Amino acid sequence: MLAAAMLAAGCGRRAQVTELSIVPEPLFTLQKDGSYTLDRNPRLTVSGVGQNSPTVKYVLKSLRQVHRHPRLVSPTVGGDIELVINDTVNTELGDEGYLLEVRPTGIRLSANTEAGLFYAYQTFIQMLPADVNNVNYSSITIPECTILDAPRYSWRGVHLDVCRHFFPMKFIKHYLDIMAAYKMNRFHFHLTDDHGWRLPSEAYPKLNTVGSWRVDRDDEPWGKATPPRDGERATYGGFYSREELAEIVEYAAVRGIEVIPEVEMPGHSSAILAAYPELACDDYPYEVAIGPYWPPKAILCAGNDSSLAFMYAVLDEVCEIFPSKYIHIGGDEAFKANWEQCPRCQRRIKQEHLTGEEQLQSWFMGKIQQFLRSKGRTIIGWDEIMGLKDDAWGMESSIADHNPFVGTDAVVMSWRGQKPGLDAAGRGYKVIQCPTEYCYFDYYQADPRYQPASIGGMVTLKKAYDFDPVPAGTSSHIESSVIGGQCNLWTEFINTSSHAEYMLLPRMLATSECLWSQRDKKDWNRFRRKVEMQKDRLAAKGYNYCEGSFTPQFTIRRVDDHTMNISITTEVPNTYIFYTTDMSTPTRQSAIYLGPINLERGTHIKILPVYQDIERDSVYEFVIK
Ligand code: ACM
Ligand code: ZN
Repeated sequence: MLAAAMLAAGCGRRAQVTELSIVPEPLFTLQKDGSYTLDRNPRLTVSGVGQNSPTVKYVLKSLRQVHRHPRLVSPTVGGDIELVINDTVNTELGDEGYLLEVRPTGIRLSANTEAGLFYAYQTFIQMLPADVNNVNYSSITIPECTILDAPRYSWRGVHLDVCRHFFPMKFIKHYLDIMAAYKMNRFHFHLTDDHGWRLPSEAYPKLNTVGSWRVDRDDEPWGKATPPRDGERATYGGFYSREELAEIVEYAAVRGIEVIPEVEMPGHSSAILAAYPELACDDYPYEVAIGPYWPPKAILCAGNDSSLAFMYAVLDEVCEIFPSKYIHIGGDEAFKANWEQCPRCQRRIKQEHLTGEEQLQSWFMGKIQQFLRSKGRTIIGWDEIMGLKDDAWGMESSIADHNPFVGTDAVVMSWRGQKPGLDAAGRGYKVIQCPTEYCYFDYYQADPRYQPASIGGMVTLKKAYDFDPVPAGTSSHIESSVIGGQCNLWTEFINTSSHAEYMLLPRMLATSECLWSQRDKKDWNRFRRKVEMQKDRLAAKGYNYCEGSFTPQFTIRRVDDHTMNISITTEVPNTYIFYTTDMSTPTRQSAIYLGPINLERGTHIKILPVYQDIERDSVYEFVIK
């Protein structure tokens, strides 16, 4: 722990924290010279909110986990820790902001709402030593300070695909805990896809007996999955029960998180069509997909009224389980080759006077929007719901031609870059930005040679930190339509909880700071230092994370036929690079890199990055070619 001095004393260890290191960076922080010392039995007062409210119960439980045993006392007596919901709204704080005051006399957390109070507490927890859950400190001294904080965006999302791989309840709760610690507030739960259907359904039970299961190829690389053999049983998968999903919704709500379920349509529907082949355009023997499935042919027949009836029934069940304002209805990557060949789809196009298959998707999504609107819900769709053709990445296209049916009360989730989102904002939609280049955490986070196999791409921690939902200079009327952003974790290549954590962390901390903190509060060097302290916290809780930021990056220039000139950097400022060129393992006694070096071709260079006096991760080896 860098910022805390540990003092041994007769009655146990004492901790003194001297430096604040909060992620995401608060709006306003004033640190003073004084301090406050928290003992094991602080007095706690609560006002403006019931002692049995979810937030107060959370705080009490959490304090016990850090070995404090608070005694609830009346506010008139005065407490060491005061939890306050303001009786007069503080307009500076809005719905999620808070004021956190540490004085030599005590600590006061106040907000307009329970969400704000919850975030005040998350900030407070980050003032304690990183190992506070594991070490029973007799006292903890924290700096005197005032923090006034409120988020830049209301939508701070994290997505998880539980279809490509299925994740247990325990992990979903861990995921929500990680989100909550960094003030992320929307859990985008991707529950249906080609590779498995994870929602319970009473209306369509074969979704669970058939659609939730696939032939198990988990011991093979995703890209090399052997096709199923005749009669082979489908044993990989599962689905969450209604009770489990209710538990997730409640667990999230206590942590200020709304769970937004996604039901994919009309494409990515192999799992549906394996269970109910009559909803397809053709007689193809659909199976719950295993391994790569591209192009994804499976699509619901939009000319068959039963497809809409199916979706209405499924969405009825979804609305019973999930109270969220928003329901995500997918809409991405709907390949329409089947629709082009299908007499029923073509008849629908004629009867509804549509211009073609693109408008047929708009018609279908429009029907679903009307249905969910009648239930008081707002749809979210991937940016394709604006009617851009699937192969039109970034293409300027006449949205109105393709999309006369999806009303502007839909929210557009822009993943194929930021441009579709900015276009949608210009057309009156609200927008969530999650462009692949900054927000796809299934992508590599460092040189693939040192990373577990991933789907491809590259989003380093620095790249994730460079994300801004609206590029500087965007007009204010577009800017005000962007309600936030999110990071997405697709799980084709991720089949364990620990690997999912590794892909999420520490990159989600970057997304958190991009979405919570004001643009002028972002500072890569400071953030990078804070990440080190946060990693201590993550490690203390047993979470896995990636050290990829320290991976050496090379720039190589030819000097002559035998010699190359090598520059080495990492994306972390002030990293020392020790290296050898004689095949020996580098240590801190090896040569230190001070600037570009000339090396003969064929040389093996081995590198040890050292940051803040700690040797980072592995030794990296490159052969100069
Ligand atoms: C997506 O990544 N297909 C939304
Ligand atoms: Zn059809």
